[in-house]
Amino acid sequence: MSIVTLHDKSFTIYLSEETIQQKVRELADALNREYAGRRPLFIAILNGSFMFASDIFKHLTVESEICFIKLASYRGTKSTGQVITAIGLDQDLYDRDVVILEDIVDTGKTLHEFLPQLHHQQPRSFAIVTLLHKSEATKFPLSLAHVGFEIPDKFVVGYGLDYDGLGRNLKEIYQLAPDV
Ligand code: IMP
Repeated sequence: MSIVTLHDKSFTIYLSEETIQQKVRELADALNREYAGRRPLFIAILNGSFMFASDIFKHLTVESEICFIKLASYRGTKSTGQVITAIGLDQDLYDRDVVILEDIVDTGKTLHEFLPQLHHQQPRSFAIVTLLHKSEATKFPLSLAHVGFEIPDKFVVGYGLDYDGLGRNLKEIYQLAPDV
């Protein structure tokens, strides 16, 4: 399929299944080398990263653990402003080698605001691995250990990413088509 329609919008193919899977294998190879003997704890950020996390985990040969969390933002008090909570983070991160798995870093805001909570638990090390990065859109500084694909600042769907709930099931990644 080279064009898909979701709700009112059309999307054209951007990254094929083969291209994505090749990259996922490369990322897993790098992690297998870096984390040998360290039993890393992978934290996959839901919903978008479920497919990426599942695929990369299949290629990991180092002893490792994984958990899935959801980052929810809500309005705090006037002084705290927006607050990010991690739903489902029940593992103790103290002295662990933590690897965050993200589908996409766009503005970087969500992760940026969540990181202090993570550091508070004093992991031994921590790294962010994202499949996609919109560097032109990133406004909040984040140190990314591995980026699968640097992509332009255009809306994408597929491979876990959605447009208003649809498109997560697509094996490829699609880019919003220009209006005609
Ligand atoms: P942030 O702007 O880096 O905080 O991105 C927050 C979240 O927005 C990501 O984890 C995605 O779930 C979602 N997101 C950002 N860009 C896209 C996109 O192009 N397609 C689908 N979801 C996106």
